[in-house]
Amino acid sequence: MGGLSKIAVFASGNGSNFQALVDDARIAEAVYEIALLVCDRPAAYVCTRARAHDIPIVSFVPKDYHDKAEYEAFVLEQLQAHHIEWIVLAGYMRLIGPTLLHAYEGRIINIHPSLLPSFPGKDGIGDAVRHGVKVTGVTVHIVDAGLDTGPILAQQAVTIADGDTLADVEDKIHAVEHILLPKVVRQLVRK
Ligand code: GRF
Repeated sequence: MGGLSKIAVFASGNGSNFQALVDDARIAEAVYEIALLVCDRPAAYVCTRARAHDIPIVSFVPKDYHDKAEYEAFVLEQLQAHHIEWIVLAGYMRLIGPTLLHAYEGRIINIHPSLLPSFPGKDGIGDAVRHGVKVTGVTVHIVDAGLDTGPILAQQAVTIADGDTLADVEDKIHAVEHILLPKVVRQLVRK
């Protein structure tokens, strides 16, 4: 496996984007490897997915730590022990703090289910549907200290048709995410 860029995925929930990356990384011309899952909710389904693929998991419960700096110091130690080069946030429901931002400056990316800067935050899909927009989409960006801010790497639009339910739009968004995220990761690690 030598020569593959080592990536850690941070996730808090279902992990369908984690799965898309694992699947992409395992095909013949892969240029990266999902070497670690970092999860702040040990019972999340994404952990089951990681176990099914023998991917090491670093899980932690934030309230067991004094503050963000303390749990991020623990996570950073684990990232370094696994020689992680890039971090992909895929449904990780926490802001990254200075400890990880400084250690991995410019090497942390996030996927967000809207066309940023529209609809940042926890419910980018629901907010777009409630607003009545006709076009939303998916953004992949470099992470900085803000909430869903930072330089944009890629975006793809998704049309909301008359009569689409929230579930319809979620399905369309996730289908786009699962193609766009592996594509951006491949481009990044090749540079
Ligand atoms: C995705 O919609 C992603 O854009 C957002 O959180 C969701 C995670 O979904 N940041 P999953 O856990 O990858 O299925």
